[in-house]
Amino acid sequence: MPSTNITDKGVIAVTAAHFDGASAIVSGGAGGLGAATVRRLHAEGLGVVIADLATDQGEALSHELGERATFVRTDVTDPESITTALDAAAALGDFRFGVIAHGGFGVLQRIVQRDGSPADLDGFVKTIDIYLNGTFNVLRLAAAKIAAGSPAPSGERGSIVMTASIAGYEGQIGQAAYTAAKAGVIGLTLVAARDLGANGIRVNTVAPGTMKTPIMESVGEDMLAKLTSGVPFPKRLGLPEEYADAVAFLLRNEYLNGEVLRLDGAQRFAPK
Ligand SMILES: NC(=O)c1ccc[n+]([C@@H]2O[C@H](COP(=O)([O-])OP(=O)(O)OC[C@H]3O[C@@H](n4cnc5c(N)ncnc54)[C@H](O)[C@@H]3O)[C@@H](O)[C@H]2O)c1
Repeated sequence: MPSTNITDKGVIAVTAAHFDGASAIVSGGAGGLGAATVRRLHAEGLGVVIADLATDQGEALSHELGERATFVRTDVTDPESITTALDAAAALGDFRFGVIAHGGFGVLQRIVQRDGSPADLDGFVKTIDIYLNGTFNVLRLAAAKIAAGSPAPSGERGSIVMTASIAGYEGQIGQAAYTAAKAGVIGLTLVAARDLGANGIRVNTVAPGTMKTPIMESVGEDMLAKLTSGVPFPKRLGLPEEYADAVAFLLRNEYLNGEVLRLDGAQRFAPK
């Protein structure tokens, strides 16, 4: 893997070469944002492991892509299954890149319910478990595996991108659990970059606004108009391909580290 390659004309020779011979894992790789990322990284020449619970979708994607793509049924709350997925990634190339893009259970509830009862703790704990603990679980295991590899001439061994949400900054009413989890991912970004600097591993995060994932296909015109009304420009949902493009940029640019990139058309969530 070459280091950032500045040509004699003073431009970065951005090329798939950064990814040459390398492999990646994408947690949630069968989902809306994850699958777009798997496709993008695969198209750029990486070997990619689709690490997801969703067997049918994951296998279909791996078949579609063919060589250099493998589905491994993975539960991000289970270290053993992550390790199996990481081993599969190492079998596809030099394992250097991790993208953490899984979703899952998220409770929606006010802290004090309309009937005066307090929010259910179990829902909060489960949401943190999948979105924050699951993220840390993949981060720590992927980073240890990347750290065991050999560095590029620049000293870089690899790069990891996590996924937060703009709700991690501007949580809406009822989103306490999801917002706390995503704010946790935002906070984790800089400290992870600092921790892993010694290992030559960069860590960045994408914080998307509302994206046009398959689940959005069914929401109807009225809801879509409501969702896009707060986006200054462009007045539409973000595309999974735009998320994947941001991920590829963060994985590749060697001076980007410890950064949280909002991808939201300048949207700021209102309280509700
Ligand atoms: N779509 C959006 O508008 C949006 C906005 C902001 C942030 N995000 C974040 O982006 C990430 C991906 O969102 P998405 O819209 O692509 O979701 P999605 O539901 O389309 O995909 C999530 C994927 O994660 C997988 N998954 C669930 N539990 C898992 C587990 N325990 N282990 C491994 N995989 C598991 C699911 O099977 C699914 O394939 C999430 O973290 C989400 O919070 C999404």
